[in-house]
Amino acid sequence: MSQTKKTDLILRNARLIDGTGASSQYGDLAILDDRLLAVGELGDLQAGRELDVAGKAVCPGFVDTHTHDDRVLLSDPKMNCKVSQGVTTVVTGNCGISLAPLRIDQSPPPPLDILVEREDQFFADFGKYLLALTENPPSLNAVCQVGHTTLRAAVMDSYDRPAIGKEIRKMRKLLEHSLEAGACGMSTGLFYAPANAAPTSEVIELSHALYEHKALHTTHMRDEGERIADSLRETFAIGAEAQIPVVISHHKCSGAPNHGRSAETLTLIDQASKGQPLGLDAYPYTAGSTVLSAMGNLLPERVLITWSEPFPEAAGRELSEIAEELAMSEQEAVEALSPGGGIFFMMDEEDVRRILAFPNTMIGSDGLPSDAHPHPRLWGTFPRVLGHYVRDVKLFTLEEAVRKMTSLPAACFGLKDRGILKAGNYADLVIFDPDTIKDSATFDDPICPAQGIEQVMVNGRIVWKDGEHTGNRPGRALRLQELAPFRFNTSQE
Ligand code: ZN
Ligand code: CU
Repeated sequence: MSQTKKTDLILRNARLIDGTGASSQYGDLAILDDRLLAVGELGDLQAGRELDVAGKAVCPGFVDTHTHDDRVLLSDPKMNCKVSQGVTTVVTGNCGISLAPLRIDQSPPPPLDILVEREDQFFADFGKYLLALTENPPSLNAVCQVGHTTLRAAVMDSYDRPAIGKEIRKMRKLLEHSLEAGACGMSTGLFYAPANAAPTSEVIELSHALYEHKALHTTHMRDEGERIADSLRETFAIGAEAQIPVVISHHKCSGAPNHGRSAETLTLIDQASKGQPLGLDAYPYTAGSTVLSAMGNLLPERVLITWSEPFPEAAGRELSEIAEELAMSEQEAVEALSPGGGIFFMMDEEDVRRILAFPNTMIGSDGLPSDAHPHPRLWGTFPRVLGHYVRDVKLFTLEEAVRKMTSLPAACFGLKDRGILKAGNYADLVIFDPDTIKDSATFDDPICPAQGIEQVMVNGRIVWKDGEHTGNRPGRALRLQELAPFRFNTSQE
């Protein structure tokens, strides 16, 4: 007589979206401990608990490829803004800024102030940062990069110049030490002063350490506007010279004169991808968000204030109104409101759609979790793609959208045994209703969980259910040594 096999939980009658882009299948799914035991036909498997999810989709948990969650993972480890969207893994340390390795005794130069309120919130040692995440775990997984701007702040006494030889050697040592501790790569934010003083060669010299450790590089490019084609070429050169994979962060064509140029940029990316590993991510909005100081000369017609140290009451208000009240130009008002942040309506809807639909584009929120009145992408990115762009606009299929959020980023960042619904993989799962999923966060009211996300599971444990956090914090800090070698171009076409 054959013995009946046992498992912890069975989800019955699911629309299974496996993450590869393949058509949905209908079937059951079994979870044992932190892994998927079986997917599809379960035979006579029996479970302690069963849940009928007829009418609902079940897919791998979403990977938010572009975040600034470095500190909020520790200070607010429930991570409601992300798990409420179905995100089960975040990539941190983007745009050149990370919480480690850095010890300074004066206020951090912008844009490092996106991450911290005080200088004592940095970690001098990357390993200690990862240890803090392990000892006080968040409710989702994290893959953490070192920021180039952070490295510069750690070793240079003035930042508005290229690093000299011995500074580069010190930065490289810090970077290597961090990679050995488990950092997955290095990001740059060459767009931002003062890191924009770093020449291409400085980044390449540091990137040799990435090659040696099989780590990757992500970049907020030097220019996303008029000189975007030059910036792409610089990015390709860094990847090719150092022989490392590069991810172009939040790809966009910024500023009215550059609207429509995504046809050109995506062609360049597509051509370059044939010779080197390249990735890119994007968020589903025509507005970006960053510190005010970065945008002083590039102000678009509409700007919303997200935070201001001297005028906290300005958060959520239009820059134009504030400038009028203060009888100032908008540039002057930006100076008066700094340090602060804003939402900048600087992209074209056609570009956003073309970039989102590009087969290699992953989804990254770029949400700024400590802003008083954040960009709605912080709470809305993933449901907005699945609701607005899939169901309403029909930009691509639900299966393709899920691929961009799961197997594609899992392959890019080397997330072993994640990103695909397959027996043996980790049980990072989202149960959602494809008919009702919808982002609720808006520019006026940005702090709001999405609709249609029924349950979210991380490493086999439920973290979000029926619109509420369950209190479980099963997230893991994934170290470079447990990641798979980086692989790109996993598109199913
Ligand atoms: Zn950025
Ligand atoms: Cu960013």
